[in-house]
Amino acid sequence: MIKVLFIGDVCGKPGREAVRKIVPDLKKKEGIDVVVTNVENSAHGRGATVETVNELMGYGVDFMTAGNHIWRRDDFNELLSGDYPVIRGLNYPDDLPGKGFGEVDLGKKGKLLVITIIGWAFMNERTLTEPFRRMEQLMKQIKRDDYAGILVDFHGESTSEKVSFGLYFDGQVSTVLGTHTHIPTADERLLPKHSSYITDVGMVGPLDSSLWVKKEIVFQQNMYPFSPRYDIEEEGPVRFDAVIVEIDGPSSSKSIKRINKTL
Ligand SMILES: [Fe+2]
Ligand SMILES: [Fe+2]
Repeated sequence: MIKVLFIGDVCGKPGREAVRKIVPDLKKKEGIDVVVTNVENSAHGRGATVETVNELMGYGVDFMTAGNHIWRRDDFNELLSGDYPVIRGLNYPDDLPGKGFGEVDLGKKGKLLVITIIGWAFMNERTLTEPFRRMEQLMKQIKRDDYAGILVDFHGESTSEKVSFGLYFDGQVSTVLGTHTHIPTADERLLPKHSSYITDVGMVGPLDSSLWVKKEIVFQQNMYPFSPRYDIEEEGPVRFDAVIVEIDGPSSSKSIKRINKTL
């Protein structure tokens, strides 16, 4: 059994601070084997840097996924091609830096395979390939029995696309966990063939913002054809959204539980 803490998109300093305050204790209290988080917004909302990734590793994060915003900082090159435990979306072109999957070695407990895939619906990312077929291709390449668990971060906008993906790969991976919308959904469950699933885990970031952006800027963006550059909300309450998944095999989970806290 592998107990995974999977944390939603960590947003800027407020997000990193919340990880610092919550994760080390939660890890101990829950007997967590491995901590995985999405870091695409960890650098002031836009992308990730070597500094933000190192900082999060210092708070107990073992492995990091990334979504469509990872390309916003030049550090993506170093983070994805170097020795950092950071992966990008699997369905980006093969000639881009990095890979869409990676392993975490948990010693006696075996290896956890982590995969990130980016949704197609409403994502406006023209270089992506269709995620279902790309994922099937990967499943044919790997030997499932090499892994004690397989975790998929499905980074997408559309709830219907995400639930379809979860049901399609039910019984082929341990868990499908949604990210990207920054809004947690209440549909965590075991699917019919025992993979666990949630449409969106949520985020770690400023609660009274839109995604992470100051509300005044977003009001303007909605009401005028011109608006100031996005800036992160650094005041007010911070949301911490995560799930704890008990993985009992490469194609199944025992449980999935939501953690939603406001600091
Ligand atoms: Fe995000
Ligand atoms: Fe995203």
